[in-house]
Amino acid sequence: MTGAERPHPNPPIKSGAGSPPQVGEGKRDAFGVYVHWPFCLSKCPYCDFNSHVRHAPIDEERFARAFAREIETTAARAPDREVSSIFLGGGTPSLMQPQTVGAILDAIARHWRVASNVEVTLEANPTSVEATRFRGYRVACRSACKPWTTLR
Ligand SMILES: C[S@@+](CC[C@H](N)C(=O)[O-])C[C@H]1O[C@@H](n2cnc3c(N)ncnc32)[C@H](O)[C@@H]1O
Ligand code: SF4
Repeated sequence: MTGAERPHPNPPIKSGAGSPPQVGEGKRDAFGVYVHWPFCLSKCPYCDFNSHVRHAPIDEERFARAFAREIETTAARAPDREVSSIFLGGGTPSLMQPQTVGAILDAIARHWRVASNVEVTLEANPTSVEATRFRGYRVACRSACKPWTTLR
């Protein structure tokens, strides 16, 4: 076989002319949404993750707006899908304000159907767990996800 006849190892995905590429093209089943909060109180020496320490307050409202825009853009590329899981990872997402978590959940629920048995996970560090904030996450989740069923 000559080089010209050999199939390309990574052939390009064929999309309709002029249409934007679709995430998971050809699949219309349930999928998970991952949201990354890239901040920590300190940087562990072994950590290779996208995590950073900020000594000034983080503008969470600005981040919430940016997450909402990215969710809107992703939903335009992956329409008509059902969200079966939402994972807020980090970094240390348990440092986020409940309003920020609520705004992200609201944005997801605005753009996709959310499964009635959706699993919502937020990574937490033992040193960054604060009961009031966790009660706030529960309230934010309830308020953003009215049609969802059980929350534990
Ligand atoms: C990136 S952290 C995010 C959640 C939280 N900040 C924490 O530390 O648990 C998730 C997990 O990745 C692990 N981890 C961090 N750096 C790693 C590395 N270089 N190799 C393997 N695991 C790592 C951490 O120990 C932690 O259990
Ligand atoms: S993401 Fe987790 S492991 Fe990495 S620096 Fe932050 S607390 Fe440490």
